[in-house]
Amino acid sequence: RAAGDPLITEIQDWNRYLGEGVDVAPYGKPSEFEANVVRRNVPWLTADPVSSINFTPLHELDGIITPNGLCFERHHGGTAIINPADHRLMINGLVDTPLVFTMEDLKRFPRENRVYFLECAANGGMEWRGAQLNGCQFTHGMIHCVVYTGVPLRYLLEEAGVKTNGKWLLAEGADASAMTRSIPMEKALDDCLVAFKMNGEALRPEQGYPLRLCVPGWEGNMWVKWLRRLEVGDEPWAQREETSKYTDLLADGKARRHTWVMDVKSVITSPSPQAPVTHGKGPLVITGLAWSGNGTIKRVDVTLDGGRTWQTARLDGPSLPKALHRFYLDINWDGSELLLQSRAMDDQGLVQPTKNELRLARGENSIYHNNGIQTWHVNNDGVVENVEVS
Ligand code: MTE
Ligand code: CO
Repeated sequence: RAAGDPLITEIQDWNRYLGEGVDVAPYGKPSEFEANVVRRNVPWLTADPVSSINFTPLHELDGIITPNGLCFERHHGGTAIINPADHRLMINGLVDTPLVFTMEDLKRFPRENRVYFLECAANGGMEWRGAQLNGCQFTHGMIHCVVYTGVPLRYLLEEAGVKTNGKWLLAEGADASAMTRSIPMEKALDDCLVAFKMNGEALRPEQGYPLRLCVPGWEGNMWVKWLRRLEVGDEPWAQREETSKYTDLLADGKARRHTWVMDVKSVITSPSPQAPVTHGKGPLVITGLAWSGNGTIKRVDVTLDGGRTWQTARLDGPSLPKALHRFYLDINWDGSELLLQSRAMDDQGLVQPTKNELRLARGENSIYHNNGIQTWHVNNDGVVENVEVS
């Protein structure tokens, strides 16, 4: 900084005058200078905002936890507003004792805290046929990662007593879309959670207040919000959201179904189209997120030249299964053009494919489960654009 910088030599207002006292905002808000850090939608994507989506501003965030007010929203029938005193969770079907729980009942079961990402199966769906949206908020922002507090689903199922032919579970939401999905009993008894808190506070209305199902590592659509009913059955139900939607149409016209796990994936969040390099050459922090529905991330490689040469990035922060992982590559930018990509590998040894590899395997009909490698082009001025390399 030049000598005589008035920000150093002159007393500023915030230094001269007393600030506001406590209690000005009983529920705190971000700084007014962060007003651009918001969820955003892409209006042409959907016909109506009640069955629509907005996106997490990944390019503005760091670490691995998504603040509650920035978790992307996906609803098929708008946000249900439910007084927790009026909320009920029913378990019926192939059980010894059908049960109905109030929220108070649920809070008397032993509870656990777990960090999980939730990714919509359609994340990146607009990018299947080529680079389209200019920003990782839009290409990758159907994801959030939250600390959930809730009751392991297993405890509730044990309380009801699942009959021996009870192999499937139907989870149903109380919203106007009555979202319903079939979940195999092994998964339900493994790591599913019936959650009522996110990041320490009550679920936000848009995230399913007062109760949501967590189906760790599996596609977001199964994480039923405003959870009101769990039916035990002996086969999957073939509801709309697991037949006409959330199945993957292949090139030969057949559809893959029951593709629940979210595959290993990563994206550079900065620099990215909404987070250009404004400081010129010299030290540059490249950062991004990696995740896998199979478990933890073992390694992330980053290329500056569109995949010709790769360097291993530094993973920093907690490495938790089925949670976001944060990576960094600290470089000295010489001001030349970059073709940035990241490639993640999970603890099962699965490696993120290129978009071309993915298209060869699955064709271009599907919008779901795009975990292909993302490319950002950085020009000499630091302007960043969504591109594809062949
Ligand atoms: N649950 C209900 N009841 N209604 C819904 O519309 N949308 C699903 C799922 N659960 C939905 C729902 C979809 S498609 C996704 S991706 C996630 O919720 C989104 O969760 P979020 O809004 O907390 O991001
Ligand atoms: Co979804």
